[in-house]
Amino acid sequence: MEESINKSLSARSQAVVWHPFTQMQLSPAPIGVVKGDGMYLIDEYGNRYMDVISSWWTCLHGHSHPYITEKITEQAASLEHVIFAGFTHEPAVRLAERLINYLPDNQSRIFYSDNGSTAVEVGLKMAFQYWQNIGKKKTKVIAFKDSYHGDTFGAMSVGSRSAFTEPFFPFLFDVEFIESPAKDEELCRKQLIELVSREDVAAMIYEPLVQGAGGMLMYSEKVLDKLLEICKEHNVLCIADEVMTGFCRTGQMFASNYCEVKPDIICLSKGLSGGVMAMGATSCSAEIYDAFLSDHFMSKTFFHGHSFTANPISCAAANASLDLLESHEVQDRIREIHNNHNTYALGLVNNPKVENVRVKGTLLALDVKSDVITGYGNAVRDEINTFFLEKGILLRPLGNTIYLLPPYCISDNQLQQVYQTINEYLLLK
Ligand SMILES: Cc1ncc(COP(=O)(O)O)c(C=O)c1O
Repeated sequence: MEESINKSLSARSQAVVWHPFTQMQLSPAPIGVVKGDGMYLIDEYGNRYMDVISSWWTCLHGHSHPYITEKITEQAASLEHVIFAGFTHEPAVRLAERLINYLPDNQSRIFYSDNGSTAVEVGLKMAFQYWQNIGKKKTKVIAFKDSYHGDTFGAMSVGSRSAFTEPFFPFLFDVEFIESPAKDEELCRKQLIELVSREDVAAMIYEPLVQGAGGMLMYSEKVLDKLLEICKEHNVLCIADEVMTGFCRTGQMFASNYCEVKPDIICLSKGLSGGVMAMGATSCSAEIYDAFLSDHFMSKTFFHGHSFTANPISCAAANASLDLLESHEVQDRIREIHNNHNTYALGLVNNPKVENVRVKGTLLALDVKSDVITGYGNAVRDEINTFFLEKGILLRPLGNTIYLLPPYCISDNQLQQVYQTINEYLLLK
C-alpha cells in the first residue's frame, strides 16, 4: 500500500492492468486520467487533452457533463438496479418510448443489453430465432468486407476477418462477406444479388453509411437503399448496426433515417447513454417481436439477458443525454460542427499529402497518403498519435486515417485549433 502511494497512477496501472487493443510489451505507459471536463481529459500531472474522438465515439456532450451527472446521481439515490425479468422501471420505459419515437417508424420494441457487441449479439440471435420460430430454415448471414461489429463471438463472426480475429477463426460461424459498398458499389450489389437467391439467407448486417473501425469508409443512402430493397425482395432481414452512427453522429438521429427502406432490427450503444454508462439496446419491428409470442414458456421465448440489462442508472444517463440532444443548443452545434468540417475539407481537397477527404454529419475523415496500405495496420498510426498527444489532442487514428468525431460541445475555436494542428502535422510529412 505504502509503495503504491508513491507510484504514479500510470505505473500502478502497468503493474496490474491489461489494456484493450494494446500490445502490452510495446505500448508506452498509459496516461493516467484523473478528471474529465467538457472537451478535456486531465491527467495526473495536470496535462489537458482535447478528446476529439469522444473516447471511442461514446462521449456525446463532453466529459462529466453536469446535467447528466445530476440525473445519474438522483437515479442512484432512488433505484440503483433491479432485475429486469418480471420487473420494470420508469427510466427504462421512458427511454424505450423515446427511442421508438426517434427510430424508423416500423420499430416497435426495445431489448436492453450492455454494450455495442451485445447489442449486435442480440440482433443476430433475434434474427436466427425469428426464422426458427416461424418454421423456416435460414441460417446464413451476409456482411460487408471491412465491417466491424464488436468482439464477442457472434459479433466477431460477422466482422471482417483480420489479424484481430485470427486466433478465433475456428470458432466463428460461417458468414458470406460481400464487397464494401464504400469501395465498389456495383460489385457489392452484384454479390448481394447472387447470394440472396439462396433460400437459406437469414439476414444482412451492416453499418449504415459509415463503416467505422474499417477506416471511416462512407457510402451513400442511395446505395444502401438499393441493397436493402434487394434484401426485402428476398425475405432477408436487415440488421442496422448503428452502434457508432446513432445519436446524430451522421447529422440525423440515426443513419437509417436517411434511407427509404427500413431495417428490421437496429443495434445501439456508445452515444446511447451519452457515453456515460455502458449500455446497449436492440430494437425490432412488430413482425419480429410477434414471432416470439407463444402460449408456452419454453416455446419461442427469447432466452437472452444480462445481469445489468436496463440498469436504471444507465437508463437515466440515456434519458438525460436525449434531453440534451433535443435542445436547440446541441442541434445548432451539430450543424455548426458539420459546417466547420465541410469548410476545412474543401480546403484540403488539393493537398497532395492527403486523399479521400470525407465528411458526414459531425464526422470528418481523411487518409494521410502512404506508400504502404491504407488501413489499421499502417504504422504511421503511432507517429500521428504521439504528435497529437504532444499537442494536447487525443486523436487516435485508424492506421493512416485521421478522423474527428468530437463531442457536440466542441466550440468553433477548438475545431479550428484541431484543424490547424492537422495542417501542422501534414506540413511535416
Ligand atoms: C459499428 C460497431 N458495432 C459494434 C461495436 C462494438 O461495440 P462495443 O465496443 O461497445 O462492444 C463497435 C465498436 O466500435 C462499432 O463501431
